[in-house]
Amino acid sequence: MAEIADHRALKQALGRYATGVAVVTALRADGEPVGLTVNSFTSVSLEPPLILWCLDNNSPNLAAFERAGHFAVNVLAAEQGWIATRFAKPVEDKFGGVDWRAGDHGLPVLAETVACLTCRTYSEHPGGDHVILLGEVEAFTDAPGDPLVYVDGTYQVPRTE
Ligand SMILES: Cc1cc2nc3c(=O)[nH]c(=O)nc-3n(C[C@H](O)[C@H](O)[C@H](O)COP(=O)(O)O)c2cc1C
Repeated sequence: MAEIADHRALKQALGRYATGVAVVTALRADGEPVGLTVNSFTSVSLEPPLILWCLDNNSPNLAAFERAGHFAVNVLAAEQGWIATRFAKPVEDKFGGVDWRAGDHGLPVLAETVACLTCRTYSEHPGGDHVILLGEVEAFTDAPGDPLVYVDGTYQVPRTE
């Protein structure tokens, strides 16, 4: 067994679990859009329709997500790795050059994703160095095409055959 305190080894083991990649967005109190790349998104319940994702306690966007009351989960398409990279960096204007529109509640909805879920914040729970945010799905869209996949710390290139 590997040593639990070895964060690198633990991340490597956790990274063996393949996930999709989403950009979770919300509106700040001043109306500015905020968003970040996550792979902690998962479905929880159908009745009521609940999903969750986890946000780093040190995120500069924590307060914005806590007060917004709603958020959107934009599930990225295979060709949108560059958007995942953009929203995984603490840059000033993450939305610059990204095609998006204001959806329900003014939430930033990215173009050409494979799915988008508009959620009301349902509850919030402490989760160590992250906060676990549950959302009740109010509306959703989905579209054909391959989703972006993240595994072993890297984006998987879709098969071309
Ligand atoms: C594939 C991938 C998945 C990520 N998943 C999460 C996540 O689930 N929760 C989180 O807080 N940060 C996650 N991050 C890190 C954030 O995207 C990154 O720290 C980003 O800069 C946060 O934005 P902010 O600093 O504006 O809050 C992930 C990064 C990558 C590349």
